[in-house]
Amino acid sequence: MLRSAGQYEFFEAATGRAALDILDRQAIDLVILDLMMPDISGPEFCRRLKGNRKTQLLPILMITSMQGAEHEVLGIDAGADEYLTKPLHPSVLRARVRALLRHKSAIDSLDEAETILFALAQAVEARDSYTAEHCQRLATYSVALGVALGLSRPELVALYRGGFLHDIGKISIPDSILHGSKRLTEAEWVVMRQHTTRGEQICRPMKSLAPVLPIIRSHHEKWDGSGYPDGQSGENIPLLARILQIVDIFDALITERTYKRAFSVEEATSVLEEEVGRGWRDPELVSLFVSLLSRKMLESTASLIDTDWPELSSMLRSLQSMQMNVQGSGAGQVIAMPKSVI
Ligand SMILES: [Fe+2]
Repeated sequence: MLRSAGQYEFFEAATGRAALDILDRQAIDLVILDLMMPDISGPEFCRRLKGNRKTQLLPILMITSMQGAEHEVLGIDAGADEYLTKPLHPSVLRARVRALLRHKSAIDSLDEAETILFALAQAVEARDSYTAEHCQRLATYSVALGVALGLSRPELVALYRGGFLHDIGKISIPDSILHGSKRLTEAEWVVMRQHTTRGEQICRPMKSLAPVLPIIRSHHEKWDGSGYPDGQSGENIPLLARILQIVDIFDALITERTYKRAFSVEEATSVLEEEVGRGWRDPELVSLFVSLLSRKMLESTASLIDTDWPELSSMLRSLQSMQMNVQGSGAGQVIAMPKSVI
C-alpha cells in the first residue's frame, strides 16, 4: 500500500533482531511493526527503541490483526505512537504514515537548531583555546554539585546544557578583545561583559533553552554584588548560575592555557576559598564543591549521566552528530517488519 506511493525508501526485516541491525546502520524515519513478531515481541521492540536515547524519538506505527482494546493499550503503553488494526484502509494507513513522518521532520529541525547552537558554543570554546573536554567537565561537575544540592531533574538538565552554552555570547566579541595581548581598556571591558546578555539573546528564541538563560546571563555575577551584567548579590543571583560559575573557575584553574600552567586541585581549591574571603563567591556552595572533590563525587556523576538521561538525548545527539561525518540524510526512510505487514 505504501510502496505504490513510490516516495519512501524501505528497509525490510523478517525479525526484530534484523530490524535492530538495520537501525544501527541506517538513518530511519519511521518504524512499522507487527504486534506479534517471531523473536522480539512488538511491545518489547517498542520498549527497546523508546528506552534507547538514540532511537527514543523515532516514531513507531504498530499494526496487528489482533482485535481488542487490550492489545491497543499494550502497544501504546509500550511506546507505539500509532496503532492500526487489520484490515487496513489504504488511505488511512498513508495518512497515518504522513502524520508520523511530519512529526519526525519537526523533531529533526529542532535538533538541527540545537545542533547549530551547540556547534557555535563549541566554536567559541575553541577560539578561547579550550577543548571539548572543558565543556564536558563543566557540564558534568555542575550536575554533580546540583545532585548534591538535591536539585530537580529539569534543573540538572539545565546545568548540563549551561556547561556548553554559558559563553556562547563570546561569538559576538571581537578577537582583538577576546584574545588581545594587552590589558583590556574600560571600553573593551564594557564590550567583553556583553557576552552574557548577547548569549541570552542568541538562545532566547529556543523555548527548550529557557531554563538555561539565567545561567548564561548571570554566570559572572559576584556574591557581593560587584559582578555583571546586573550587579545582583547573594541569593538573588540565580542558583544555577552560581553553581556553574564555581565549576567554571575551578576548571579554568586546573586547565593548562597558553598563558598559564595547570594548577593542582589543591591550588585551585585555595584560589576559590580566597575568592570566598573577598566576598565574591557563595561560601556554602564553594565549601560543598570542595567536599565533593575530596569524596570523588564528580567522577561518579559522569558515569550516571552516561547511562541514562533521556532529557539530554537531543543535545547529546547534536554533539555526536557534530563529531561524526553524517552520511546521507535518510529522509523518508521507513523500516517495515515483518515482511507480511505491508
Ligand atoms: Fe563567561
